[in-house]
Amino acid sequence: MIYIDTHTHLYDEQLNPDEDAMVQRAVNGGVAKMYMPNCDSSTVSSMLRIADKWAQNCFPMMGLHPTYVKDNYKQELDSVKQWLGKRKFYGVGEIGLDYYWDLTYKAQQIEAFELQIDWALEYDLPIIIHSRESIQDCIDIVKKKQNGKLKGIFHCFGSSIIEARQITELSFYMGIGGVVTFKKSNLPEVLKETGLSNIVLETDAPYLAPLPYRGKRNESAYIPLIAGQIATITGMPVEEVATITTRNAEMVFNK
Ligand code: NI
Repeated sequence: MIYIDTHTHLYDEQLNPDEDAMVQRAVNGGVAKMYMPNCDSSTVSSMLRIADKWAQNCFPMMGLHPTYVKDNYKQELDSVKQWLGKRKFYGVGEIGLDYYWDLTYKAQQIEAFELQIDWALEYDLPIIIHSRESIQDCIDIVKKKQNGKLKGIFHCFGSSIIEARQITELSFYMGIGGVVTFKKSNLPEVLKETGLSNIVLETDAPYLAPLPYRGKRNESAYIPLIAGQIATITGMPVEEVATITTRNAEMVFNK
């Protein structure tokens, strides 16, 4: 079985101590490809170090994360733009809106999101969307920008069937991670109704580890646990979950 982790912060400090062993565990477990979303200019060098070292398995993306939109956001956006012109990236992310932590920079978050979507279109790259208490605004912006060429993932999807339907209509995908294994998750209901046609797998490591590691450090090697839970929910063999979600991820990241 071949899996793809569409969202993993392999460069996170929490993962540094056994970075190589961790990537190797994931690869050994069938997680052949790992896509790394960027946060801001301070995370680029460690992300690229991993991408260069594991060039067959680990792929960097470029973007300014909404919770990192602060007073210096224009310089940060300049840095994103420059990097996009400098080397190959596999997506623009993670970008989006976060109304949970801080609303001070809401207008700047929207500006940064829209601008980075335009760059994704310019470079023909998928976008990786972070939405927290902001999913409808994110959907509306994507709707406005969708010219038939925009593609991407609503990362860490946890909303209802209403949002899931809108995302599917936009030909976008939903990233499902460890939350699907939590008892209170509404994802089983959503997945039963939507099926897997627009679903990709992600860990969001080092955060949101699936059961039985909930609350501990997450890593890409746990992707099969997420696939296993989706198999249980949908009644599909896990091989089929792997095949469909890997094919979906390839649709997002390759032409
Ligand atoms: Ni993330």
